[in-house]
Amino acid sequence: MGMKMKTIEDFDWTEMWNNAIEGSRWGQRAGMPEFWDERVDWFEELVQQSDRAGMIMSRLKIEPDYRVLDIGAGPGTTAIPLAKNVKGVTVVEPSNGMLARLKENVAKENLENITYIPKKWEDVEIGNDIEAKGHDVVIASHSLVMKDIKNALVKINEAVKRSVYIFIVAGRRNEKEGSSLWSLFNREKPGLRPDYIYLYNILYQLGIYANVEIIDANHNMQFPELEAAVQHYKTWMNVSGADEERLRLYLSGNLVKENGSLWLRHKLRTAMISWRKE
Ligand SMILES: C[S@@+](CC[C@H](N)C(=O)[O-])C[C@H]1O[C@@H](n2cnc3c(N)ncnc32)[C@H](O)[C@@H]1O
Repeated sequence: MGMKMKTIEDFDWTEMWNNAIEGSRWGQRAGMPEFWDERVDWFEELVQQSDRAGMIMSRLKIEPDYRVLDIGAGPGTTAIPLAKNVKGVTVVEPSNGMLARLKENVAKENLENITYIPKKWEDVEIGNDIEAKGHDVVIASHSLVMKDIKNALVKINEAVKRSVYIFIVAGRRNEKEGSSLWSLFNREKPGLRPDYIYLYNILYQLGIYANVEIIDANHNMQFPELEAAVQHYKTWMNVSGADEERLRLYLSGNLVKENGSLWLRHKLRTAMISWRKE
């Protein structure tokens, strides 16, 4: 007999996803609430400078009477604009630091239609924390970097009544635009990054045939001066010793001066995975 032909069923996308999480720094850190606790300020600055909210809000189909579930809401990137446009928003956010900032932002905007669940999505129970089909829309923006992803996706599908939107990086770091900062320190094994292709295939294996849109999202960081940029990326990339000088050199060559500040501008190739509940 000849060789057995491989079929879709022979690929364990969940196992490959777990390998990608273990093989990439982002994968190892993104799911740790403590990691986010320490990075509230610069993260909020980053999403504001990149207009992440605008990029996402222009793509969501929402109505004033909707209830939306925002998983891994961070400082409120999408939760706040959503709360201004829908009946209610439920936030799932396990980082105390992010949650505290979100609540400050909510108070500034005088919004009263946000409910908080201070947990990881894995620990949220349907029937206890939220109801099945209790939210018209579920959104998870750059927050689904967890093991046991299959259950996380099944739970999202159970929680939603109408549509789901997941935003996640697409492909490897773009060689031309910004990756060189990372390749400086050889921080990732090539090809290993928990990106959209795993989720898309895991959904397929669950019988969920999702749409994918690839977006060249902005990823802009603004700094008052070089030293602030060095400090920022030093923390972000865990750089120390002699590598700090290489970082400084890279930044002084790549930051662009505009309107009195220094900018590091690149694109973050992002996928929007979306589906409608049958
Ligand atoms: C990159 S930030 C994204 C914040 C916001 N959604 C945005 O796009 O600007 C990731 C957020 O997901 C949260 N997060 C990490 N692991 C999570 C988990 N297992 N369940 C729910 N949220 C999680 C983090 O605490 C953090 O606030």
